Amino acid sequence: MVFGTCFTRFMFIAEPTFSTVSGQLICRWRTAPFVRLTTGAWRRIFTRDALNGVLPGPGISPISRAFALREHWLLQMKRCFDPAVLEMMDRPQPVSPELERDLERLRQLNRWFGSHRLVLSFMRRWIKPGARTRVVDLATGSGDIPRLIVDYAREIGARLEIDALDRQPATFEVARRLSTGYPEISYHEANILEWSSAEIYDIALCSLTLHHFCDEDAVRVLRRCRELSRRFVLVSDLRRGPLLKGGVYLLTALIFREPMTRFDARLSAARAFTFSEMRDLAVHADWQNFGHKKFRFARQAIWLE
Ligand SMILES: C[S@@+](CC[C@H](N)C(=O)[O-])C[C@H]1O[C@@H](n2cnc3c(N)ncnc32)[C@H](O)[C@@H]1O
Repeated sequence: MVFGTCFTRFMFIAEPTFSTVSGQLICRWRTAPFVRLTTGAWRRIFTRDALNGVLPGPGISPISRAFALREHWLLQMKRCFDPAVLEMMDRPQPVSPELERDLERLRQLNRWFGSHRLVLSFMRRWIKPGARTRVVDLATGSGDIPRLIVDYAREIGARLEIDALDRQPATFEVARRLSTGYPEISYHEANILEWSSAEIYDIALCSLTLHHFCDEDAVRVLRRCRELSRRFVLVSDLRRGPLLKGGVYLLTALIFREPMTRFDARLSAARAFTFSEMRDLAVHADWQNFGHKKFRFARQAIWLE
């Protein structure tokens, strides 16, 4: 549907579209190039379908081409989430050298690209020496985040108990194996959306996992986090955008080239939420007075305190 005001060769068009969060029909304004036909009518040069397939060829003015490229880029940057396509680490599988290598890569990414620093900056505020603190880490992977927090708590003399859960039995087994010497951590094989605990936690954490869910379930995860903790909640994840996409492509083309890591990392870059999408999710999950900040290396976090 196209209607609007004509500006020489460009028009503002009102386009009905579905909100990625609420699923409601909303109206979005866009600019699009139009040509004037010999009949005097104006016609849009590129349709959405044409843009998805072929980019404008020669004979089109550079300005029209620039607009078309911008539209093409915007379409490319939409969140792509097909529930039928699972990340390779989420598929049922036994412990294998490929999975172990993938989890090791994830730990390196966490260490080198900001996850550990991000989580620690919050733990320094929330965990106090001498106090007993109960933490739940939702979708823990191979457990490097809970081990990091225990190391910090030991350093400052805090008493910590962590429940770390993951749905993938093979990942769960690797996490347990790597956590001998960490009696503060109890591992549970469980789905975030179904996990409940007799005693409520002081801190609920969920790192690098929200993008594994469709919008609706991501909102449920955020609600679950808030219900599980009486005080502090931290949810951190990737931040979708050209920097993330380009960075992940380069990294997985040059260094992290294992097929599982490459597939999952590229899928994650396409599935991550943008900064504004993450904010919308929190609002839909009825989070109030929450913090929300961008972090280095295309990360973001929302928190309650
Ligand atoms: C990218 S990893 C993140 C691991 C860790 N939190 C980190 O920051 O490195 C995502 C993890 O989420 C787990 N996962 C995905 N869906 C889940 C669910 N519904 N319940 C529990 N764990 C889930 C996967 O098994 C995987 O270990």
